[in-house]
Formats: sequence, structure tokens, C-alpha cells
Amino acid sequence: MSRASGPGPGWLLFSFGMGLVSGSRCPNNCQCQAQEVICTGAQLTEYPSDIPLNTRRLYLNDNSIRFLPAMNLGLLSDLVYLDCQKNLIQEVMDYTFVGVFKLIYLDLSFNNLTLISPYSFSMLSNLVQLNISSNPHLLSLNKYTFANTSSLRYLDLRNTGLQTLDHAAFHNLITLQTLYLSGNPWKCNCSFLDFTIYLIMSPLNHPDEQNATCLEPTELAGWPITKVGNPLRYMCVTHLDHQDYIFLLLIGFCIFSAGTVAAWLTGVCAVLYQNARRRSSEDEAEDELGQSVEASRRIFQSRVESGQDGFPQLI
Ligand SMILES: *[C@@H]1O[C@H](CO)[C@@H](O)[C@H](O)[C@H]1NC(C)=O
Ligand SMILES: *[C@@H]1O[C@H](CO)[C@@H](O)[C@H](O)[C@H]1NC(C)=O
Ligand SMILES: *[C@@H]1O[C@H](CO)[C@@H](O)[C@H](O)[C@H]1NC(C)=O
Ligand SMILES: *[C@@H]1O[C@H](CO)[C@@H](O)[C@H](O)[C@H]1NC(C)=O
Ligand SMILES: *[C@@H]1O[C@H](CO)[C@@H](O)[C@H](O)[C@H]1NC(C)=O
Repeated sequence: MSRASGPGPGWLLFSFGMGLVSGSRCPNNCQCQAQEVICTGAQLTEYPSDIPLNTRRLYLNDNSIRFLPAMNLGLLSDLVYLDCQKNLIQEVMDYTFVGVFKLIYLDLSFNNLTLISPYSFSMLSNLVQLNISSNPHLLSLNKYTFANTSSLRYLDLRNTGLQTLDHAAFHNLITLQTLYLSGNPWKCNCSFLDFTIYLIMSPLNHPDEQNATCLEPTELAGWPITKVGNPLRYMCVTHLDHQDYIFLLLIGFCIFSAGTVAAWLTGVCAVLYQNARRRSSEDEAEDELGQSVEASRRIFQSRVESGQDGFPQLI
């Protein structure tokens, strides 16, 4: 801001105030204009001081910065665009981005990240584009890493050391459109199954899916992870170990013995039923006998009653 050069003590005081609010200087080797600070390739070995506080876009790419100090970064509360591509940043901590909650674009590609602590991005609910590609020493991401970045649309996870991802990490990424996953040594074991199913079910773009392939196990090596869901499910669901076999044997034995007992019970019931039927039909036969005796007695009686006719009237 050119006001810093204004004359008089009043101006000095004013410019001091403005210096705190909007910043009045520009870091060495950088260009500052219209809320934009460009330090691209400025041979910085650490985060520059004197960045105007009203900066909205900050380019720190192509330097040798090892560390992002949360205190200094947090002063830039209007920052929406931060490019840290091609530096030597090793760690991103929970509080690193606490103050820059308006951030929309964050590029951490081509660094030397080994750790992104779980709540690093938890204040970045406006973040639309996140690039952490080409960090070959980054071996894992916590499942809470993206818990609060619900505006994310582009996520670049290419060329890292990631072997696996927890599908729960993607639960809150409801606006995610494009996901880059190539160049990672994906280990397609059964823990990976849920994530591969998520990839099948979700309508994401995978521009690099041909190169996002399983490295392990050997049976699945070369399979695109966007397509490995079904074979992996087959492998994991039908895979049986010792305990499963014992369990199945026990189940089989139980079913067999239950069947035997059931058959025996059915047999017993059948025999009992038949016996009961036979007895009841004998009773009926006896009954019929009784009835015919009765009938003949009636005939006899009627013959006696009807007198000389000789023929009973009933017949
Ligand atoms: C990157 O990180 C790894 C592991 O922490 C370390 O061995 C290596 O020296 C680092 N590389 C640079 C250029 O700092
Ligand atoms: C998510 O962001 C909101 C504010 O945007 C904050 O209150 C909350 O603590 C954050 N959640 C986590 C897990 O950090
Ligand atoms: C991430 O960064 C790499 C290299 O810096 C670049 O090629 C890639 O396009 C970026 N990804 C996104 C989604 O912008
Ligand atoms: C699958 O591989 C990952 C990454 O190496 C490992 O953490 C996990 O324990 C493995 N899961 C199984 C079921 O072997
Ligand atoms: C896949 O990798 C090959 C070789 O590394 C490269 O030529 C090709 O452009 C990549 N394809 C995509 C879609 O990234």
C-alpha cells in the first residue's frame, strides 16, 4: 500500500494502523499487488514474514520451505488461495490452518509430507480443491482428515505412499466430484473392500482410473481399484479360514443330527398314528357288527309282530 509513504506524524500513525490491518510491505523477492502475493521461486527456506494481512491469494510454490507456522499463517484471515506446491514441508499439524478458515484452494503437492494430523483440515469447511499429490512419504490418512471439508469438489491423492484408505474418511465429502488416486501402491486386501465398494457406488469422476491399480496381492495386481470391488468381495466373502471350517463342520453336524432326530420323531408319529387308526377302524367294525345284530333282531321282531304273512314289512 502506497499510503505508508505519506508524510507527517498523523500519516505515520495512520499508516502504522493500516500496516497492522492490511500490511504495508512485501516480502523480499516477492511481488504484492491487489491482495495477491507471489513468491514463486523466490528461494525461500522459510515462510516469509511481512505478508500483507489482507492477502487473499498467496503463492509460495517452488521454494524450500519446510514448515508452515500457524501463528503467521493465521493472521491472513482473508486468505482463500494458498499454493505451497514444490516445497519441503514435512508435517501439517492440527492447528496449521486454524486461522485461514476461508481457504478455498490449497495445494500441498510435491512436498515431503510424512504426516497430516487428523484435524489439520477441520476448520476448512469452505475448501473446494485440495491437492496433496506427489508426497511419496505420506503413508496414511486418518479417517477424520476430511470430516469437516464438506465443500470439497476436487481431491488429488496421486503419487503418494498410501496403501489403503478408510471409506469412512469420505463419508462427509458429499459434494466431491473428482478424485485422483493413481500412482499409489494400493494394497487390495479385505480391509480395502469397503473403499472399493464406495468407489463403485459413488458417482465420482476418476480421470486417472486406468493408472490407479492394485499393487498387492499378486492375484489382483494391475486391477483398477475402481473395478476391483466385485472380485475383492468374492475373495473376501468366500474366503474361509480354520475357524470357519470348524464352524461349518459344527453347523453341518447339528443339521445332520437335527435331521436324524426329526426323521425318527416323524417315524414314531407315523407308527403311533397308524396304530391309532387301526384301533379306531376295528372299533368301527365292531360297531357295524352291533348294528347288524340290532337290525336282524328288529327284522325278527317285526316278522313276529306282522303275524302270518311270513314277510316282514320292512323288506
Ligand atoms: C523427506 O522425508 C524423508 C522421511 O522423513 C527424509 O528421509 C528425507 O530426507 C526428506 N527429504 C528431504 C529432501 O528433506
Ligand atoms: C467443523 O467445523 C465447525 C465450524 O465450521 C466446528 O465448529 C467443528 O468443531 C468442526 N469439527 C471438527 C471435528 O473439527
Ligand atoms: C495437483 O498438483 C499437480 C502438480 O502440482 C497438478 O498436476 C494437478 O493438476 C493438481 N491437481 C488438481 C486437482 O488440481
Ligand atoms: C490390509 O493392508 C493394510 C495396509 O497395509 C493393513 O493396515 C491392514 O491391516 C490389512 N488388512 C488385512 C485384513 O490384512
Ligand atoms: C497412466 O500412466 C502412463 C504411464 O505412466 C501415462 O503415460 C498415462 O498418461 C497415464 N494415464 C492417465 C490417464 O493418467
